[in-house]
Amino acid sequence: MTLLPCQPSVNSVEPSVATRPQSAWVQENAWQQYAISYDRILPRLPFYIEVVDRHVEAMTQADVRNVIDIGAGTGNVALRLVAEGRRVTAVDLSPSMLAQLRAKLPADVGSKLLIVQQNAEALPQFASGAFDGVNMLLVLYAVERPSAALDEAVRVLRPGGAIVITEPKRCFNLRVLLDFAENYLRQLGVLETLREDWQRVRESNQRFDPSQRSRLWAENIYERLETLGFKQLCFQDSHLGNCATICGRKPGQMAARPDHQQFVKGE
Ligand SMILES: C[S@@+](CC[C@H](N)C(=O)[O-])C[C@H]1O[C@@H](n2cnc3c(N)ncnc32)[C@H](O)[C@@H]1O
Repeated sequence: MTLLPCQPSVNSVEPSVATRPQSAWVQENAWQQYAISYDRILPRLPFYIEVVDRHVEAMTQADVRNVIDIGAGTGNVALRLVAEGRRVTAVDLSPSMLAQLRAKLPADVGSKLLIVQQNAEALPQFASGAFDGVNMLLVLYAVERPSAALDEAVRVLRPGGAIVITEPKRCFNLRVLLDFAENYLRQLGVLETLREDWQRVRESNQRFDPSQRSRLWAENIYERLETLGFKQLCFQDSHLGNCATICGRKPGQMAARPDHQQFVKGE
């Protein structure tokens, strides 16, 4: 499969505020704001519903029994997987996002869900090949060293295991998505009641705008997995064509690890 960029890469633009490394405190403050309103807005938006369904489907294939959800956030995929009988390890760096997840736990969750507050760039407590499935839904664009996080995701997946990742494409345009979402909430008749939440979600997205900070686009991820010899690769648009879902199966024997610089600038 040949992936054509939908417009020239923006990797070469001048660094803006959003591209500069942010202190852990600044980052957490931003996620804290997002966490307050995340579940009041995102699960109403059709492109989010579609992509959550897609990830759940990928992670509920018959041979996928234990899943690591990296950047699990408020747990919208993780809790669906638990309800489908999967054992899930939900990893996220933000205590605020994980607090929202904890607030939603069903009474009978028991040992089916393990919650770990951790940076996705290094997951040393998990053995190589520990999981049947790796789920990453809109996480890498927000990580300081996305390539390291992708390496860890691949490492903890067992040979033959399934991976599903959704990330922005090179043509990502935040304005298009924000305008669509605002109009959609207006049409639903909830924009006025959710005005503060919408404001928070909009500002959080502007803070983490992938077109200003992403260094590992969906196209790069596809190419990276292809180079590593992943099988059954798919690349499917999401978010009105601004993002894409990549899925695949880890090969028994991986090709040599590709050079980071081939895929990522500035990590
Ligand atoms: C846009 S949210 C997506 C949450 C969830 N996957 C979903 O789709 O609803 C991105 C998540 O990535 C988490 N995150 C950002 N940087 C991270 C890192 N370095 N390690 C682990 N999680 C991180 C954030 O805390 C946030 O919960």
